[in-house]
Amino acid sequence: MNAPLPAATAAAAPPPLLDVNGIEVIYHHVILVLKGVSLAVPEGAIVALLGGNGAGKTTTLRAISNLLAGERGEVTKGSIQLRGERIEKLSPAALVERGVVQVMEGRHCFAHLSIEENLLTGAYTRHDKGEVAANLEKVYAYFPRLKTRRGSQAAYTSGGEQQMCAIGRALMANPRMVLLDEPSMGLAPQIVEEVFGIVKDLNDKEKVTFLLAEQNTAMALRYADYGYILESGRVVMDGSAATLAGNEDVKEFYLGMGGAARKNFRDVKSYKRRKRWLA
Ligand SMILES: Nc1ncnc2c1ncn2[C@@H]1O[C@H](COP(=O)(O)OP(=O)(O)OP(=O)(O)O)[C@@H](O)[C@H]1O
Ligand SMILES: [Mg+2]
Repeated sequence: MNAPLPAATAAAAPPPLLDVNGIEVIYHHVILVLKGVSLAVPEGAIVALLGGNGAGKTTTLRAISNLLAGERGEVTKGSIQLRGERIEKLSPAALVERGVVQVMEGRHCFAHLSIEENLLTGAYTRHDKGEVAANLEKVYAYFPRLKTRRGSQAAYTSGGEQQMCAIGRALMANPRMVLLDEPSMGLAPQIVEEVFGIVKDLNDKEKVTFLLAEQNTAMALRYADYGYILESGRVVMDGSAATLAGNEDVKEFYLGMGGAARKNFRDVKSYKRRKRWLA
């Protein structure tokens, strides 16, 4: 008779879609920017990577999508796994084939191409024209504004339309996971709301998983399931969006909800904040 499986094996949870384990990133061989960052993104979740300027959010996303080399950066410690497979050595194109795409900070649409031409560049790994056409219609269904502006040169569209175009282009690769860098940057509050609403819809209806880097903590916590707060290349706090939104330090330093006697996070030395986070 076979011995029963040990409880731990029988109940083993599947690995998270993305598992970042203690990564260190160094730029130009000397500048240590990430100092052991760990995070997990479960399939189907929206996970927020929060923190102020220079905290290391973009660097973390670049490390995952293997876009560090062009910046003269490298992962020098730790591991990154997608569905249990190590991905640190994979090219960005190999990651796209595995369903992971990044939308870069600052939008990066091709200014001289039309919105539709921009969207089609996102399908460069796909060869079935029928599927690509169907995917394009799906993107237009989520972003009706892009359909109206499909023939316009990207340079002459609004910041919000360019952000939508950048997300739409990523969706043309039919991804399972999107790494979204500062979707709210430079956009009016109403447009930010619209962009986040579409992200939530894509998550609900298409089951696309998102890891999004944001300085707009309030907005990110309204839409995310879980969040990590980065400061100076370290995760100082993580928790469900509701836990983070209710935390006094997060309220004070990141949500601007401190009373008159309390200080803004920029006014408090980071080591003092870290002492409080880790207390
Ligand atoms: N290519 C690079 N070469 C050298 N240092 C870099 C490079 N890119 C980023 N850094 C440094 O790494 C640190 C983290 O930068 P990163 O862009 O990851 O932060 P961030 O959290 O995305 O900030 P922001 O909210 O301003 O976008 C900063 O100190 C930055 O100056
Ligand atoms: Mg950034």
